[in-house]
Amino acid sequence: MELIATCAFGLEKLVYDEIKKLGLWVVKKDDGRVVFEGDESALIKANLWLRCADRIMVKVGEFKAVTFDELFDQTNSLEWEKFIGVNDSFPIKATAVRSALHSEPAIQSIVKKSIVKKLQSKYKTEVLSENSNSIYQIIVKSNKDQFTICIDSSGDSLHKRGYREKGDIAPIKETLAAAMIKLSDWNPEKTLVDPFCGSGTIAIEAALIAHNIAPGLKRNFAFDNWKWIDKKKITEAIDEAKQSAKPVEKLPVYCFDIDPVALKIAQHNAMNAGFENIHFKRSDFNDLDFSKFENCTFITNPPYGERLEDIAQVNQMYKDFGKKFAQTKNCSLFFITSNEDFPRLFGRAADKNRKLFNGNIKCYLFSYFSK
Ligand SMILES: C[S@@+](CC[C@H](N)C(=O)[O-])C[C@H]1O[C@@H](n2cnc3c(N)ncnc32)[C@H](O)[C@@H]1O
Repeated sequence: MELIATCAFGLEKLVYDEIKKLGLWVVKKDDGRVVFEGDESALIKANLWLRCADRIMVKVGEFKAVTFDELFDQTNSLEWEKFIGVNDSFPIKATAVRSALHSEPAIQSIVKKSIVKKLQSKYKTEVLSENSNSIYQIIVKSNKDQFTICIDSSGDSLHKRGYREKGDIAPIKETLAAAMIKLSDWNPEKTLVDPFCGSGTIAIEAALIAHNIAPGLKRNFAFDNWKWIDKKKITEAIDEAKQSAKPVEKLPVYCFDIDPVALKIAQHNAMNAGFENIHFKRSDFNDLDFSKFENCTFITNPPYGERLEDIAQVNQMYKDFGKKFAQTKNCSLFFITSNEDFPRLFGRAADKNRKLFNGNIKCYLFSYFSK
């Protein structure tokens, strides 16, 4: 099968490396996606193990279409019966850019009709009840008249690991937090500090990496209910993942936040994820003694000041943070913000500056390496 791992712009290389590490054959990487080959086991493994990808899709077909008749016929020629059973549901979601066929509702309706017709003829029935618990979410994307039709195997986006409690804090996506860690110089022997930890996502993702725990181990996937996926293979992959987890004696991960409510949520999330060994403390970063931090890696997602009235306050915060960080000894810093002016406020040019998206917000991961 041809499989597609989708991801946020800027994370393609990380997802590419993760897929390779799973021993799978990568075909190519494009903007926001990495195409790879694999069987059922590859699909299960990718969903369980990829830390930076959003979804794993099964590619059903690719073709050019500029009229609705062409779209109908091309869709109809694909082997839908290989995937979808007579009673299974198959909702359609379409997006189209720079294409002759640009009405997304119309594309959805034609694709639906075409698949229905194909399945009716294959199963020799007029009735497709769509009432089984197997859901095949069909994703149709058209770019410059080139259609790609896939089935989403993940269900909820892969950033939903299953450990997070709802709260008012603006949490960073787990996939982006994992990416920041992978782009940093941190390894589990080094002390990790998050002075603006919020709900603790960065710390928890670091703990998952340190223990070699598959990020998808605590959640369900759409493919769990697919009839053509051998349940034994799912159990095997889960058992294998459980066995790969390794105990870590000491986890030097320190989290601080000024907000007691955020800290409570962070501690709760950490417990949900199975980590009692992350250190949480309520503190304004201004009150911390930064001279005590030596050979540490700071990875953090501070307030950005997206609202106009907050900008002056956040600018001052970045200046203060620069003064505090200058007191550390041989520490590195990986700081994500949408504020392009951060290095000037912080007081030092970054060694590296990488463009990343936090949801729809264009951000920069300003990286400062230790000597
Ligand atoms: C964008 S949120 C961090 C979200 C976090 N990465 C997560 O995944 O939940 C920024 C955090 O900085 C905290 N904060 C704001 N001012 C602070 C200060 N002076 N010292 C410490 N924490 C502060 C806020 O309480 C908030 O939780």
